[in-house]
Amino acid sequence: MLDVLHELETTALAELDAQSGSDALEEWRISYLGTKGKLRAVMPLMKSVPPDQKPAVGKRLNEVKTTLETAFREKKDAVADTAEAGPAIDVTEPGFPCGVGRRHVLSRTIDEIVEVFARMGFSVAYGPEVEDEWHNFNALNIPPDHPAREPTDNFYMPGARLLRTQTSTVQIRTMEATQPPLKIIAVGRVYRPDTHDATHFSMFHQVEGLYVDRRVTMVDLKTALFQFARAYFGPGAEVRMRPSFFPFTEPSAEVDMKMKVKGRYQWVELGGCGMVDPNVFEAVGYDPEEWTGYAFGLGIERIAMRKYGIADIRWLYENDARFLRQF
Ligand code: DAH
Repeated sequence: MLDVLHELETTALAELDAQSGSDALEEWRISYLGTKGKLRAVMPLMKSVPPDQKPAVGKRLNEVKTTLETAFREKKDAVADTAEAGPAIDVTEPGFPCGVGRRHVLSRTIDEIVEVFARMGFSVAYGPEVEDEWHNFNALNIPPDHPAREPTDNFYMPGARLLRTQTSTVQIRTMEATQPPLKIIAVGRVYRPDTHDATHFSMFHQVEGLYVDRRVTMVDLKTALFQFARAYFGPGAEVRMRPSFFPFTEPSAEVDMKMKVKGRYQWVELGGCGMVDPNVFEAVGYDPEEWTGYAFGLGIERIAMRKYGIADIRWLYENDARFLRQF
């Protein structure tokens, strides 16, 4: 009996393995597991098994039955899966082109600017975008009644905090944490409640520079800006300074750079600069008799827009892939 069962199990499984259609599978099931099937057919043989072997043989019979049933179910599921998967995949078909991503034009501009200043010996400093009035105004020598503090010109927040309006805040934070000499740039977002139009957005980016050492002069400042302009905008670039006023520098100037716009060099107004005001040094605990320094702050959107001929600042923030793909 045990030999018969073994034989039956082996052939049944082999036959099952060879089936592929669901009709053939059903035929197999009827022929082995059906009421008139081959498994049922061996049951009468139990009568001739000696009584002491009956439990073992009975157990084996059940085992074979379970094995065949399980094998059948698995095979049936497998066949169903292939049927659902539809026609086989034609691996020779050309695939769908999938777009390659790229860095945002502003991120690339920032990286390029940082790279140039890094080569000139500036390290990169960071500061928070949510600031207190000390770092955004007081320490920068902006008096309490200064119009720059107007609520209409700032995003004030609860707890005497505000979104920084300039990266000059990082000058203060760096000097508070470091002893001179130092040479840093700070890049980041600044916020002003401007009405959005082609040249204004309530958030934009600045790159701030600060160099503090003994006997720093306006010549060093102009040289640094000139070197940056040459390295970043090309050999025809130039720097022009126009007298101006900022509370944190004395003297102060506005910076224009001659950069290539649509193949031709043009003057573009980029920001402000000057010699660090002694009051700023005093605010951070530096001795103004010993230390001197220059500072500058440039608008990054201005640079990117002129360089790439982007007419509207809002396009930079709309995340329209058709626009961004061009750069
Ligand atoms: N913080 C100024 C602004 O946002 C720009 C500026 C001017 C930065 C002069 C400076 C500077 O570091 O020395 O308009």
